[in-house]
Amino acid sequence: MNISKDEAWFRVCAVADLADGQLQKHLAGETAVVVARAGDEFRVFPPFCPHMAEPLHESGICKSGTLTCSKHLWQWNILTGEQQGPAERPLLLYPSELRGDQVWAYIEEELTYDFDEEDDDDFEW
Ligand code: FES
Repeated sequence: MNISKDEAWFRVCAVADLADGQLQKHLAGETAVVVARAGDEFRVFPPFCPHMAEPLHESGICKSGTLTCSKHLWQWNILTGEQQGPAERPLLLYPSELRGDQVWAYIEEELTYDFDEEDDDDFEW
């Protein structure tokens, strides 16, 4: 994708679309994303669990600043994407910001995970 910085910002949803702790799938431009609300903070990330690609808008539970995938209980700090507990990979986050009552995300390139069937340990970023 060869676009200017301004063109890479996409409106995702309205603040009022999500209650605290809620996750929703949205299209930002042509990219599917999940947006999570943690209090007054919003985070935008790819729609799949970094472990085995569960759809996080269905399997994710966002509570007390932690996102948990209910499939195998990998967890992340929802504000930073840093892994917690048994999670072995961070949650990739798109840069995002509030503009008035709208959530916007910076998506220059779609973020993806390298899923492999073995789920081996030599995963590299
Ligand atoms: S698929 Fe999410 S923790 Fe395994």
